[in-house]
Amino acid sequence: MVVIAIDGPSGSGKSSASRAVAAFFHWEYLDTGALYRALTLFAIERDVQDFSLIPELLTSDSIMWKGSPEEPQLLLEGREVNSEIRSERVTKRVSEVAADPNVRKFLLTLQRAIINQARFGIVVEGRDIGTTVWPDAELKIFLTADLIARAERRNAELSSHFTNKEIQDALAARDVVDSNRSTSPLRQIDEQIIIDATHFSLEEVVSEIKRLVIELELSDDGESRE
Ligand code: DC
Repeated sequence: MVVIAIDGPSGSGKSSASRAVAAFFHWEYLDTGALYRALTLFAIERDVQDFSLIPELLTSDSIMWKGSPEEPQLLLEGREVNSEIRSERVTKRVSEVAADPNVRKFLLTLQRAIINQARFGIVVEGRDIGTTVWPDAELKIFLTADLIARAERRNAELSSHFTNKEIQDALAARDVVDSNRSTSPLRQIDEQIIIDATHFSLEEVVSEIKRLVIELELSDDGESRE
């Protein structure tokens, strides 16, 4: 089973690129940010103030991830929450929840269980996949872009009422929390291949990752589907 780890800051295009690569090779997909978002939604709805208590309030099947790259689905206690986890109230709090060591420990176990279930391959995106969640990943990528490009991308995705500057400020604030927390922060490591998507389109990023997968001979049949 092949694991591709794609880490990087918010708005670098990780989700779109990861889904496209997974779909191309007929692999599964895991958006680990979505799991942190689900726990954040849970804490907001249950009014849990002390985030370290969140894991105690959940059971092993409280969060279900269905990782088809075409139509990924997240269920929180049986309820589909795909769009709710992208709401502003969740986005505002998620970095704080993700900094809690108990939350990270709980999700580490869940992420590894999901990855272990993959049959042929899985593309996993997040902040600490190559460093902590799956250090043995066959290919580790750090996908980044400058703040202006990331904010533009996010703004287009959200078609939001925010100005570009407001989105830049929010992304920069999340970068600071995500990169400076004590447990498993966002960081670059030597084994990662860095892709700076500032001046690349999504298609170019996807082609580059596909090229790496094929060059490393991680897929049996990728070449024939090119
Ligand atoms: O990728 P995203 O914006 O949906 O991630 C939401 C938050 O979750 C982000 O602020 C950082 C956190 N996160 C994390 O700490 N570790 C991961 N592997 C994935 C996401």
